[in-house]
Amino acid sequence: MVNDAEGERLQKVLARTGFGSRRVCEDLIFDGRVTVDGEVAILGRRVDPDVAQIFVDGVPIPTMPGLVHYLLNKPAKVVSTAADPEGRPTVVDLVPREPRVFSVGRLDYDTEGLLLLTNDGAFAQMLTHPSHGVEKEYLVEVGGGALSPAALRSLREGVELEDGMTAPARVAELDAGLLKIVIHEGRNRQVRRMCEAVGHPVLRLVRMRIGNLADQRLKPGEWRHLTLDEVLALGEVAVKGRQPTRKGSMRGTTIRS
Ligand code: URA
Repeated sequence: MVNDAEGERLQKVLARTGFGSRRVCEDLIFDGRVTVDGEVAILGRRVDPDVAQIFVDGVPIPTMPGLVHYLLNKPAKVVSTAADPEGRPTVVDLVPREPRVFSVGRLDYDTEGLLLLTNDGAFAQMLTHPSHGVEKEYLVEVGGGALSPAALRSLREGVELEDGMTAPARVAELDAGLLKIVIHEGRNRQVRRMCEAVGHPVLRLVRMRIGNLADQRLKPGEWRHLTLDEVLALGEVAVKGRQPTRKGSMRGTTIRS
């Protein structure tokens, strides 16, 4: 712990991240909503922003200099791991080499769409924690034509997979064999296996949204930094289970040419 003479005042560190004025940050501390390294902070607390793990309402606040959060539109035929034994292109080849980052969860080699990359372990852990269940929205083209009402019902209510039943999902058939599927679990190849289980193998899979985060301007292979607001909003979605307010993430997306 940093003693009284060292470090910076907590409200100053919080205010610098854009969390609010120093006064607002003092109120947060006073109300017991801020923790530092797992302990509820008191007013007057000083911290070393290079190492302190600061949370507000359970949401990690990226105060350490050098933390980066990227949103990548992953193209197909790219692996989500940092290195591939088969020498295939990886998502880390698509973003700056330094600082070294890792992907938050993964998309299959053939899956396209939004993927977060970061060097912020607390942020990644929060988003991938199974109890947080951040929504992920996919646009899915399947084989086998239009889905029967029974197949749609199964997808919505839960599908028996080898690792157990899937949780209820939101599923809309936008066109014959073109689905919007929203899930909050993160099992391996889940959407592909769900569709396969109801007799409609996936032909193309695109992740359109993660929590409140969508971006129709990002072209395949392009990335951008998340804003601090986006980082904090994702944290809130993860911790509080709040769902996005911005709608229309699928608009303008053409999966079929
Ligand atoms: N579900 C899948 O089947 N694959 C992905 O890449 C993401 C979700």
